Amino acid sequence: MRIAVVHGPNLNLLGVREPEVYGSATLNEVDGALERLAGELGIEVECLQSNCEGRILDFLADVRERADGVVINPAGLGHTSVALLDGLLAISRPFVEVHLSNPAARESFRHRSLLTPAAVGVVAGFGVDSYLSGLRCLHNHLCRHRVPGA
Ligand code: DQA
Repeated sequence: MRIAVVHGPNLNLLGVREPEVYGSATLNEVDGALERLAGELGIEVECLQSNCEGRILDFLADVRERADGVVINPAGLGHTSVALLDGLLAISRPFVEVHLSNPAARESFRHRSLLTPAAVGVVAGFGVDSYLSGLRCLHNHLCRHRVPGA
């Protein structure tokens, strides 16, 4: 099983970006923790961070061939991007939306995510653990819904 992990805009700055909101872990540390968990689960992860919406859409279209599902922190794009929602719908892979912070407890423009109605579920507010829980939950979901022999 392979799960794609997408980090949206500005998450390359994790560790220095508003650490009181997003924590002190760097993007490399987040990806390292995801890879360790993937090893424990006996699966593979393929991670991408980009500040460019088009790069993320190209990655999703490309990874469709290899990935059984997607864990995505859409960052600001989740609040605005119909194109990102369409890109996720287009690849027909289950996805879990994750956020380091809890957007529902922040400014009102963060309360709506265009992705949430199409997600299997959302994990928010637990820092790096949001990603790790998202990966575990998606793995469990995929195991439950796996077509025998496929
Ligand atoms: C975020 C929350 C978003 O509102 C924000 O635009 C981000 C990060 C989070 O992980 O908490 O860039 O997705």
